[in-house]
Amino acid sequence: MAEPVVTIAVDGPAASGKGTLARRLADHFGLNHLDTGGLYRAVAVRVLRQGGDPADEASGETAAQNLETQDLEAPNLRAEEVGQAASIVSAHPKVRAALLIYQRDFAATPPGAVLDGRDIGTVVCPEAGAKIYLDASLETRAKRRVKELRLRGVESIESRVLQEMQDRDARDSGRAVAPLKAAEDALTMDTTDLSPDEVFDRALSYIAARLE
Ligand code: CDP
Repeated sequence: MAEPVVTIAVDGPAASGKGTLARRLADHFGLNHLDTGGLYRAVAVRVLRQGGDPADEASGETAAQNLETQDLEAPNLRAEEVGQAASIVSAHPKVRAALLIYQRDFAATPPGAVLDGRDIGTVVCPEAGAKIYLDASLETRAKRRVKELRLRGVESIESRVLQEMQDRDARDSGRAVAPLKAAEDALTMDTTDLSPDEVFDRALSYIAARLE
């Protein structure tokens, strides 16, 4: 009999806590973990490295088709300017199509996976056994990102981080293909006043009930 495959989708905007939750859930359940934002960031890094324009769909598509594992280890992968460029390349339907098969294959590999992103519960894995959508106030998310950047030795100005996040949220939510939004059957959680442990505990109770 085929091994059962478990898929858990975690979606939400920047610094909503989805990466932290997805990693913890993957550890807890012994599943693989895919940070799908890293794929779009890696595409953006490739385009920028080649002197291309993230707004050009053909450059993005070529970069996505030629993506290599080492692109996911680019030293500037998590930089804010790469996040902005990722949000521009990710609005191109051909870029999304080029990354879709990889994400679905990853999800289908036993024993299964936790995928975090913007469209996992809605487009990539609409059949996921459990779907979680996290959000938090813009101010809280900007504070979290500044702290995260500081831990990595990058000093940033909170008002600028907040503005960049707002631009990115608007682009991600407003695009025509696979916009950022909660799946209708997702558990939605506002993490503004929740600790990572509280988010994890609530997610665990929900998943336990769903996967029973
Ligand atoms: O870490 P952060 O939340 O700031 O961003 P990320 O998850 O690394 O994603 C970077 C950008 O990639 C987002 O702003 C989206 O535009 C795009 N993205 C997407 O379109 N679909 C996904 N499944 C994941 C990310």
